[in-house]
Amino acid sequence: MSQTARLSAITVYPIKSTAGLSVSQAMANREGLVFDRRFVLVDDNGLFITGRQYPQLTLIKSAIIPVGMQISAPGMPTLTINYSQFTSQYEPITIWKDTIQAQYCYQEYDLWFSEFLGKPCHLYFYGDRSQRPVKKRPNDQVSFADGYPLLLISEASLIDLNCRTAEPIEMAQFRPNIVVNGTKAFTEDSWQQIKIGEVRFDVVSPCARCIFTTVNPSNATKSPLKEPVTTLANYRSDESHNIFFGQNLVALNEGIIVIGDSVEVIKTKAPAVYIDNAPIKRKPTQTTQQGNHSTTDIQLTCQRVIEETPTTKTFLFTSTERLPSYLPGQYLAIQPTINGQAITRTYTLSSSPSRPEHFAITVKREENGVVSNWLHNHLMEGDQITAQLPSGDFHLQRTNNNKLLLLAAGCGITPMLSILRWLTDRLENVDVVLIYSARSQADIIAYHELLLLAEQNPCFTLHITLTQPTQIPAWPGYQGRLNQAMLQQCIPDLAERAIFVCGSASFMEHCKTLSQQLGHGLTDYYEERFFTPQQTQEVATPKKSVSILFDSWDIMVKGDNQTPLLQQAEQAGVAIPYMCRAGICGQCKVKVVSGHYQRLADTPLSEEEKTDNVVLACSCLANSDLVINAI
Ligand code: FES
Repeated sequence: MSQTARLSAITVYPIKSTAGLSVSQAMANREGLVFDRRFVLVDDNGLFITGRQYPQLTLIKSAIIPVGMQISAPGMPTLTINYSQFTSQYEPITIWKDTIQAQYCYQEYDLWFSEFLGKPCHLYFYGDRSQRPVKKRPNDQVSFADGYPLLLISEASLIDLNCRTAEPIEMAQFRPNIVVNGTKAFTEDSWQQIKIGEVRFDVVSPCARCIFTTVNPSNATKSPLKEPVTTLANYRSDESHNIFFGQNLVALNEGIIVIGDSVEVIKTKAPAVYIDNAPIKRKPTQTTQQGNHSTTDIQLTCQRVIEETPTTKTFLFTSTERLPSYLPGQYLAIQPTINGQAITRTYTLSSSPSRPEHFAITVKREENGVVSNWLHNHLMEGDQITAQLPSGDFHLQRTNNNKLLLLAAGCGITPMLSILRWLTDRLENVDVVLIYSARSQADIIAYHELLLLAEQNPCFTLHITLTQPTQIPAWPGYQGRLNQAMLQQCIPDLAERAIFVCGSASFMEHCKTLSQQLGHGLTDYYEERFFTPQQTQEVATPKKSVSILFDSWDIMVKGDNQTPLLQQAEQAGVAIPYMCRAGICGQCKVKVVSGHYQRLADTPLSEEEKTDNVVLACSCLANSDLVINAI
């Protein structure tokens, strides 16, 4: 298997115990990866401060900038760490049993970290005069990592672990620098020397793990079940009850490693043997590493294709595994492989969690839609497709109001179908009104089911308006674009209702304006877009070339003003985490440090983020040269 092993993720942790920074390539040297654990926080006695006692350290994020770093943390202003401000003072600090001469940074930085941690602390740098030999390898150096310069883990080992744990575990909990794929679980235990890109590494020892791995780095809380330690203790522990996961490495030469590099196994050794008392609880599912973002994939089989309208089809999916739960209104990200390329698109689940035997997505064929056309033309019953866990914050649980108004246009009916099926199946006593805007009767999606739901559910009132002139003499519904009079007639108590809206950008703007005009405060008000960001561009701007500096990644791109930043980043090998690619999930947030840009979507951004020039890389165009940082 070693011939196919590849480097799938690289992460550096600039300040010890803080959040990792995903990079597409890195320079390895004798202390590990450049920028990895070169800073440490210590207390008044010079003793290092660790995430074991202060899990909130994992919420501190770093971005590399030319003068140093930008540091952010919840509730704190951004801190710029500038190398030129560092003192020339070297002082002894203690990490475990090692005393190291470290360079004291700057008093102002200490105030920022002390305020965030609620404890006096001081920032030190592993400077030119710092020395810290690796245990039993006096000729090798390690900066402020626990014991060794680098940590490697295979994706397969994490998959194996996740088959046994009581709760899902993410790769980020183990804080590896290097993740590899294309191996069997724990193959890395048998490696003695490997080569990645131009760098040779000695695989020196299994990595002993501690309680810090139980901290969820996205919210800094410890697992109440003490996972993964509980499970690892039952199958990866030695006689002294030390537990191991991952392998420590030492670089033998200086050089660059890049995601996608093959891992060449130069020497092997007999792996350590552990007694296996941790039963397999579930079958493995594929996990993928996208920057810091780890997702669990699910394999779906297309069970049925239903022709809803001339341009819309519903695809029903099943799985050999129990399908994951979701909330009515959430979306599913599917990843078909089209012309050899895996492309991710999100579609709202039109199925309801009250009918857990299948997932359904309802997809309109878009004129230039690569995935929608592929689904319509190629996906057939029995075909397999990869998807990610359902997600999204447009769902029924957002409100406690038991009076709802659902406003949908065209394919925007899909989350409403999920909500209506859920409410009806569960006999919920929720007063719900749907106003559905379709071009013509032939374009109404799930028309007969909507009529049936209205018949079955006494709390549900259905109104349909056709926006094109109809030839049907006895059309019982409304005609024309949704308007104030229509809303007043259908829902006299509109201002009291929770409103859920899904449709095109112009439909949603229109609904918002009407709702405000009719006295709705827009607090209990939720929107879901079903269009892709590119579709919102109404005015074609002339194409021009721009320079985009992805500063945190140290990569400059000659790009253009018409391609979303995420796409341009990917073309240059910059790994920005993403999920929906449609301005919905917020996974692809980056910060524009300088330059002019155009946001195509901003729903997941807070007002503070908008002011702070945070953008969604999948939904942002460059209007001028830009400098971009990770956040
Ligand atoms: S990837 Fe979801 S908002 Fe950009």
